[in-house]
Amino acid sequence: MQIKVLLTGATGFVGGDFLYALHHEEAALATQLEITALVRDEAKGQLITQAFPAVKIVVGDMKDAAFTSRLASAADIVMHLAAAANFASIEAVHHGLQQPRGSRKAFHIQVGGASFFAADEIAARATLGSAPASDKLVFDDLDGVPEIRRFVRAHPERRAENYILDETHKGSSSSSSSAEPNNDSGINTAFVVGPLIYGRGRGPVNQRSLQIPELARIALETGKVLKVGAGDNVWATVHVADLSDVFVRLLKRAVDVLSGRDGDQATAEGGAVWGPDAVYLAHVDEVKMGDVAELVAAALAAKQAKVQIAHITPDEADKLAAYGSIMWGTNVRATGRRATELLGWQPRYKDDIAEEVQRVVDEEVERIANVVATA
Ligand SMILES: NC(=O)c1ccc[n+]([C@@H]2O[C@H](COP(=O)([O-])OP(=O)(O)OC[C@H]3O[C@@H](n4cnc5c(N)ncnc54)[C@H](OP(=O)(O)O)[C@@H]3O)[C@@H](O)[C@H]2O)c1
Repeated sequence: MQIKVLLTGATGFVGGDFLYALHHEEAALATQLEITALVRDEAKGQLITQAFPAVKIVVGDMKDAAFTSRLASAADIVMHLAAAANFASIEAVHHGLQQPRGSRKAFHIQVGGASFFAADEIAARATLGSAPASDKLVFDDLDGVPEIRRFVRAHPERRAENYILDETHKGSSSSSSSAEPNNDSGINTAFVVGPLIYGRGRGPVNQRSLQIPELARIALETGKVLKVGAGDNVWATVHVADLSDVFVRLLKRAVDVLSGRDGDQATAEGGAVWGPDAVYLAHVDEVKMGDVAELVAAALAAKQAKVQIAHITPDEADKLAAYGSIMWGTNVRATGRRATELLGWQPRYKDDIAEEVQRVVDEEVERIANVVATA
């Protein structure tokens, strides 16, 4: 029997790369699946079916809760790889998966963005651009999930993260709100948190990430390579192909459980691969954002571009790019161990941010030249 997967974000950088990895690196797994991609633009949907003919397209908006919930209720596995902070769509997915489905298990694999770890800095603003004050906020996804949960609970404004870490594990009869959640919802959830994601996406629509390309774009347009404040803040990093590998490994585990191939193992590890503790910080390296700016400046200078480093305020960063102060001014650090320990994840990319900056600068120069040429 084919296993039904609902995928959101297939036209995006993250979701598109996942689709590529699944079809090109785990083709046998892909053939066991009936994948429905929720897209909001029919023309983009056609690009997906050209690249992956077996993928079914449903056109709609995930902000339509009833629609999203209905699609999720028909799926065995939902891979919600579109906008991570969209609380209503996460809730709609969860409600859909809660619909009666006999003894068949349901799986919810959710992408998240690691900027929630910088919630204190984002609120205070004064320290944006400063070096990490201590190692207190270097979260560990294997032994440190209670600290992650405590941190998220201390920030009720982070509705999406609170919902995923607490609410998705409660059964409909559960009343406790402060106790550790015990996964009586019957839905197997995994929360994969991406830091600064780099590399060229391999999906059919958006292949461009944000944090480094936007720095290069602004430098080319304004002559300024930005550092928020001193630029001493640090971000954890992962290559998009390595992130996709985490999603593929989780999907494979879910399929093994649904096909009865991994029953015993899944039960033994149930609380770890899936459930309240299943937070995967897909973090590999870390980089100082000011160093990224210096690399961008050097790569552009080598192309004879007239650029200089500019130390700017968080407000100025936000005027230049959506969430600029967060992308370039916060500290996001973590120790990602769960995917390696439990899924056998071995990231392939490391220590290659200098190469990445060169690639991005070449690509942005070409992209902007094309925009000018076709204007
Ligand atoms: N890129 C990073 O460095 C990074 C880092 C950490 C976490 N993340 C998280 O990963 C998620 C995906 O990021 P990304 O880089 O792949 O972004 P992206 O390239 O902008 O893709 C976003 C995807 O979500 C879809 N989407 C957005 N709103 C939708 C709606 N209302 N209904 C249906 N689909 C909708 C988009 O569809 P359209 O094609 O129609 O726009 C697109 O497929 C985000 O939540 C982001 O926070 C990204």
